[in-house]
Amino acid sequence: MVQVNENYLKLKAGYLFPEIGRRVSKFAAENPSAKIIRMGIGDVTEPLAPAIIEAMHQAVDDLARRDSFRGYGPEQGYDFLRNAIAENDYRAKGCDVHADEIFVSDGSKCDGGNILEIFGINNTVAVTDPVYPVYVDTNVMAGRTGPADATGRYAGLVYLPVTAENNFTPQIPQQPVDLIYLCYPNNPTGTVATRETLEKWVAYAKANGSIIFFDAAYEAYITEPGIPRSIFEIPGAKDCAIEFRSFSKTAGFTGTRCAFTVVPKGLMGKTASGERVEIHPLWNRRHTTKFNGVSYVVQRGAEAVYSTAGKQQVAATIAFYLENAKLLTNALRDVGLPVYGGVNAPYVWVKTPGSVTSWDFFDTMLREANVVMTPGSGFGAAGEGYFRLSAFNSRANVQEAITRIKHLIKG
Ligand code: MLT
Repeated sequence: MVQVNENYLKLKAGYLFPEIGRRVSKFAAENPSAKIIRMGIGDVTEPLAPAIIEAMHQAVDDLARRDSFRGYGPEQGYDFLRNAIAENDYRAKGCDVHADEIFVSDGSKCDGGNILEIFGINNTVAVTDPVYPVYVDTNVMAGRTGPADATGRYAGLVYLPVTAENNFTPQIPQQPVDLIYLCYPNNPTGTVATRETLEKWVAYAKANGSIIFFDAAYEAYITEPGIPRSIFEIPGAKDCAIEFRSFSKTAGFTGTRCAFTVVPKGLMGKTASGERVEIHPLWNRRHTTKFNGVSYVVQRGAEAVYSTAGKQQVAATIAFYLENAKLLTNALRDVGLPVYGGVNAPYVWVKTPGSVTSWDFFDTMLREANVVMTPGSGFGAAGEGYFRLSAFNSRANVQEAITRIKHLIKG
């Protein structure tokens, strides 16, 4: 009989969102008349912008004609999209990122997991706590950790707590770490990193020969001036960082699938014997061997995000979700709960009432208010006693959820 990858056996329970889905399905089956409002997984609800739809229709027509038909595209993405990204997301904002450093893909979750393949198994990994669970689970699967303890923390990982007490700013680790995951605007806390904070991380990474995996999937939600949207706004970051970005939350592509990863040319790692090796060709090799590119139609849709009309339409949808976040924040503060995030991110991060645990409050909210949230402890031990609400929803659902949650907490 074949052997399995036993690292998978170390994983705690199910992946967070399927576990929530399982509990909600059970509740729905037992309470068929309950009108459940889902504010758990951060999945967009508003339709794709008209400019994107128009571009996709046009792209379908291209495929209908012999002279404009496309088969396999370049694995790294079509030039029209890579150039639009480089120009609009980076060069227009003063970042020296070139089209050939951009790898278009079907999602940041996939890229964030897959990137580990090109790094050695003995690297030390640092994650914040709470954290987007994919960073942890993919390292467990790869065999870069020991077993989990009772709080769900895996041996071998360096956890950097981010809580209200430290203003959600992870401390630079005392020991050297090789790979560092930073996500800003942050999932799950909705908080942001200042330029000074990112400068410290870049200085640390350069001094230690570390690489920062910078997940900027929510950068389009930044509203406050002066908050960096890209790690590459920090001088020196091209020597020590890889950035992940996505059209999912920026432009509603969670179902359509399109994202990209920036691997700077000249970013270096080393072999076990100390020989310096460039990272970009390794990722290019991995990407071209295991991925056949995002579909032409979807890439044309993503390109339209950068058209004049596309920019306006996408910004309007983001403003709509941010208004949802504001309504949720105000309502939860009204009932006396400490609330964080929500200003530069589509997530609000909330203390549970009293000393109720995250999962207990999840069950209470589902049972009593028929509202689904994400329990903070599902993102890590330091998330215990918090919960996350996603602002991705219709206005009517947000208002109804607010009424129900206020009633639940005020009694
Ligand atoms: C979340 O709810 O944290 C996100 O939707 C998950 C994801 O982007 O994969």
